[in-house]
Amino acid sequence: MFSLVVAADAQRGIGKDGSLPWKLKGDMRWFKELTTCPDTDEVLARYLMNIGLRDKRTHTWESLTARIGGARPLPEWSPAARNAVLMGRKTWDSLPPRFRPLAGRLNGVLSRRLPAGVFHGSHHVWPSLQAALDELGRDPTAKNIFVAGGGEIYAEALRHPGCARIFLTDVAAAFPCDTFLPAFGPEFRETAISPLLDEGGIAYRFRLLERGDRS
Ligand SMILES: NC(=O)c1ccc[n+]([C@@H]2O[C@H](COP(=O)([O-])OP(=O)(O)OC[C@H]3O[C@@H](n4cnc5c(N)ncnc54)[C@H](OP(=O)(O)O)[C@@H]3O)[C@@H](O)[C@H]2O)c1
Repeated sequence: MFSLVVAADAQRGIGKDGSLPWKLKGDMRWFKELTTCPDTDEVLARYLMNIGLRDKRTHTWESLTARIGGARPLPEWSPAARNAVLMGRKTWDSLPPRFRPLAGRLNGVLSRRLPAGVFHGSHHVWPSLQAALDELGRDPTAKNIFVAGGGEIYAEALRHPGCARIFLTDVAAAFPCDTFLPAFGPEFRETAISPLLDEGGIAYRFRLLERGDRS
């Protein structure tokens, strides 16, 4: 089982010229905390995603973080309990060198061309999503698995029956994009949603969609 984590705009755009079309500090912080903390429920509680689907009030990022200011610190990762973040080779290449590998997480790069293997202190390269999932499934230190893009990898992940959750940051605007998140089916149901946030005039919200049957 794994989760997909993605930020997409109103037209499901996710990328432009090999990078993100927007800069949202709040979303970057959410991505870091969600993918690093081995206790996903704790992150969800912290971000108040259980406040109800109909809450359409607008909050600023500052007002939301003020509300969670008293929360206890998130459980920390350790080498014995850390998450894995899987990404396509192009997304890996797009990470600024100072953020690569993503700290506190097992970094997995999917590539058909790069030699497969473990690059100690940095990242793993796997030749397919399934190869990564199989190996991580045998690794007791790997807690949660997050598929973190880009477009090609999301498309494959959404077709995989092991994709149980989509952590979607819904950006409420249309940006010029050349990479898109494929549509996902009705088997993914919204189970939590944050208030609408605003950062530098860009409105966005965090949503959680979980795989369930259609009845
Ligand atoms: N908004 C978001 O949340 C978000 C998140 C991540 C990325 N992005 C954006 O998405 C864009 C990049 O996406 P992209 O679709 O161009 O590239 P990508 O999915 O990051 O990487 C594509 C590469 O992954 C490898 N690959 C693809 N399918 C594979 C498979 N089934 N098995 C093994 N390897 C496979 C191939 O690498 P080789 O060529 O080496 O074989 C392929 O060239 C960037 O603009 C990035 O900023 C956005």
